[in-house]
Amino acid sequence: MSENMLVARLDEAQAYMEAQLQGRKPAIGIILGSGLNPFAEEIADPLYVPFTDVPHMKMSTATGHVGRFVCGRVGERMVLAMQGRLHAYEGNSSIEVAFPVWLMARLGVKVLITTNAAGGINESYRVGDFCLMKDHINFTGRNPVASPEAAGLAERFFSMTDAYDPALRALAKEVAARENVRVQEGVYLGLLGPSFESPAEIRAFRAWGADTVAMSVCEEVIAARQMGVRVLGISLVSNPAAGVEGASPNGEEVMEAARNAEANFSRLISGIVAEVD
Ligand code: HPA
Repeated sequence: MSENMLVARLDEAQAYMEAQLQGRKPAIGIILGSGLNPFAEEIADPLYVPFTDVPHMKMSTATGHVGRFVCGRVGERMVLAMQGRLHAYEGNSSIEVAFPVWLMARLGVKVLITTNAAGGINESYRVGDFCLMKDHINFTGRNPVASPEAAGLAERFFSMTDAYDPALRALAKEVAARENVRVQEGVYLGLLGPSFESPAEIRAFRAWGADTVAMSVCEEVIAARQMGVRVLGISLVSNPAAGVEGASPNGEEVMEAARNAEANFSRLISGIVAEVD
């Protein structure tokens, strides 16, 4: 075993995944967020690997998060999807949240499409819109590369400018226009959760320039950028954020919005995957 436990754990997880993937080499990774897990059923010729079978990986416990890797084809492209993700609010450390992202990079993923449901802080956003992340505010108070072990993976002092790849965003806009799917472009703010925000917090976040808010994504994107993986982040606006027109968000409305958005989400993601270079 290497002295660096993180590297050693990733080596083991990678060897296990490579055996399960039977020679498949997915270059596109997809993380399916709250209520967006059903997209995995559209992946053709799937191989399934439950998170619990992967050495050193944590199990997903959040509602509507299945908790497995699905490797297969979307159109002509081989993808590796996470049907469910690991959140900080499930008790996972920042390194545990980032672990599957580092793993995907080691398996050859070059482009990561990370998705979630988010509250709309921007008052012009409507429930059912998709918001392409153009930047983020990491307000989780955590960072997966804030440990000496993460230095064993790659350089830790990397830029977060254009962390959300402008070319991927342009492609997503083109696909959305063609498919008649409403998209916005905005700044995403990520929090620890799991309680929703207070209206005063949402007012403060708006003043900071945030357009959407949720409880995932930032730590994954930092891990992806450390490994040079290009990122596209897409939020489904599932509810107005707390206090927006008197809103008081709850988990059920998030799930319902996701159910209603399934068809649009599927056309958007499939169209993007088909054309990603
Ligand atoms: N706040 C935080 N997380 C969320 C929200 C929200 O309003 N909606 C969906 N996930």
